[in-house]
Amino acid sequence: MNSIKGKVVLITGASKGIGLATAQKFADKGANLVLVARSKDLLQSIGTKIKEQYGINILCIPADLSISNQVERVFEELKSHFGRLDILINNAGRGIFNYIENGSVKEWKEVIDLNITGLIQCTHLASKIMIPQRSGHIVNISSVAGRVGIPGWSVYCATKWAVVGFSESIRKELIKYNIRVTVIEPGVVATQWGENMPEEWIRSRGSMKALKAEDIAEAIYYVVSQPDYVSVNELLIRPTEQER
Ligand SMILES: NC(=O)c1ccc[n+]([C@@H]2O[C@H](COP(=O)([O-])OP(=O)(O)OC[C@H]3O[C@@H](n4cnc5c(N)ncnc54)[C@H](OP(=O)(O)O)[C@@H]3O)[C@@H](O)[C@H]2O)c1
Repeated sequence: MNSIKGKVVLITGASKGIGLATAQKFADKGANLVLVARSKDLLQSIGTKIKEQYGINILCIPADLSISNQVERVFEELKSHFGRLDILINNAGRGIFNYIENGSVKEWKEVIDLNITGLIQCTHLASKIMIPQRSGHIVNISSVAGRVGIPGWSVYCATKWAVVGFSESIRKELIKYNIRVTVIEPGVVATQWGENMPEEWIRSRGSMKALKAEDIAEAIYYVVSQPDYVSVNELLIRPTEQER
């Protein structure tokens, strides 16, 4: 296993759920962290607690990653604070439930601008740091919804399928710079994810034992701690009881 101690790791969507669990796991392993999410106060208090507990170097940057100049600001602050980036975890993502005859351009754009454009822009700016380093690892969080179609989640599914295609393409582009790319596709994880979910949808999941955010954090840690010559390109992780 490769140690991540001292590595600089940027985690998007780090204020809750999978991103927060990953920040805690990586801090425990001695990585230095850049945490990004919109919730300024929440992010700052997470940063303070993690720093106190683990003594790592940590930078918290409140930003809306669906807005391009805010993404640029994140990378400017990262570069002036750390001057390098070893691992990018593109985790921030939203899903808004709606059937295709409903919804609106505004709603679709909110999801697409974060889940696709924001993720691509973060990857673009990270590649400009990682290519001169001749090292790096980009981990993109897609979903089971990036492998199947799900009624009510068509726009979300479209974004997560896009993340799978994007990841496989940049993997081939970045091989020559010694940069690894992984896409992770979780099934149902017990977090606050999902907006506008109708009761019938929540009921349809029944009493299934969902994954925990920590299970996905463990999977992310597994892929980034492989020896340099090992590139785990794709991981699909479902709760044992999840059929679709
Ligand atoms: N939970 C699941 O069942 C599941 C399954 C498969 C895949 N996933 C994917 O896993 C990833 C993490 O989801 P989660 O379950 O941990 O969800 P979550 O608990 O809702 O956390 C989402 C994170 O993204 C941040 N975020 C949302 N909009 C943002 C924006 N515009 N700019 C910057 N940060 C933003 C949120 O923080 P702020 O609100 O503070 O901005 C939060 O930290 C997502 O990409 C999701 O699609 C989740």
